[in-house]
Amino acid sequence: MNSGYPLIRPRRLRSSLKISNLVKEVSLNPSKFIMPYFVVHGRSLKEPIKTMPGQFRYSIDELLKELKSVTALNIGGILLFGVPEEKDEFASESYSDNGIIQTALKSVKDEYPDLLIITDVCMCDYTSHGHCGIVDENGCVKNDETLEYLAKISVSYAKSGADIIAPSDMMDGRVKKIREALDDEGLFNVPVMSYSSKYSSAFYEPFREAAVSSPKFGNRKSYQMDYSNSDEAVLETALDLDEGADIIMVKPALSYLDIIYRIKQSFRRPLAAYNVSGEYSMIKAASKLGYLNEESAVIETLTSIKRAGADIIISYYSLFAAKLLSKF
Ligand code: PBG
Repeated sequence: MNSGYPLIRPRRLRSSLKISNLVKEVSLNPSKFIMPYFVVHGRSLKEPIKTMPGQFRYSIDELLKELKSVTALNIGGILLFGVPEEKDEFASESYSDNGIIQTALKSVKDEYPDLLIITDVCMCDYTSHGHCGIVDENGCVKNDETLEYLAKISVSYAKSGADIIAPSDMMDGRVKKIREALDDEGLFNVPVMSYSSKYSSAFYEPFREAAVSSPKFGNRKSYQMDYSNSDEAVLETALDLDEGADIIMVKPALSYLDIIYRIKQSFRRPLAAYNVSGEYSMIKAASKLGYLNEESAVIETLTSIKRAGADIIISYYSLFAAKLLSKF
């Protein structure tokens, strides 16, 4: 062992920006980012979302304009959420041919045939009570009955042009049901990206304003996971993979970096992490107050998600980060 000046000197690899870039273990790539969008009926609408400064609800014509930057920046794809005209107990608009998502899919595919579109499949944006499924007289979500609807929504989205179907409802058995329904329609090549580890989280709060999807009574704790649990994430993920999930997910991301790491190590399958609305709004708010440097905080945050093991990052900061990266 050399006892004087150390031969191994980690600082040497940080002695210039060029060298440190060369040995960087993890770097961000916009083609692995997914940008979520909220779509509303109407024309010329770009409604600011109060709880998520810098994010909007777009009518389809406005969304088409916005997507120019998505393709210019080489963002991996978009994730669409619909805000329906009318809500009812059965979420009817979610599987209607003229639903907001179906209409958006057709228009976006027309104008941007190469843009990858993922559709979130869930009923909470579309139900009058705001829960993620069919509710019985006691206010409980009926798991098996809901599955039929989720399958119907998924087929309808895929037929309208969705490239990937992403069920976020958390009903048991949904991936299998959706996979079978897609296959029955010959939609074999449409993958399922399952929200396999979705925790019941305070960090979804801003989203619920964005998507107008707060539950009118109760909460989602009976179908979303308890943040005290980690083994459960492994079990849920194993079940979803068994049922045919092609891409798995951990959501939220930041308080769950250990889960991202564990799921990647356990399964070594394509893994997405959802950097959710509350995580976006926290950085936004702090930087508006001058407490944080937004650019540095965003890049550090997204890098940590990638370092933990996520292949794909779903983030409202996708465009912002991609612009920054192209500066380097
Ligand atoms: C629908 C859904 C939610 C989010 C994505 N899909 C809300 C929820 O489950 O309450 C949250 C995304 C975000 O906060 O950015 N079930």
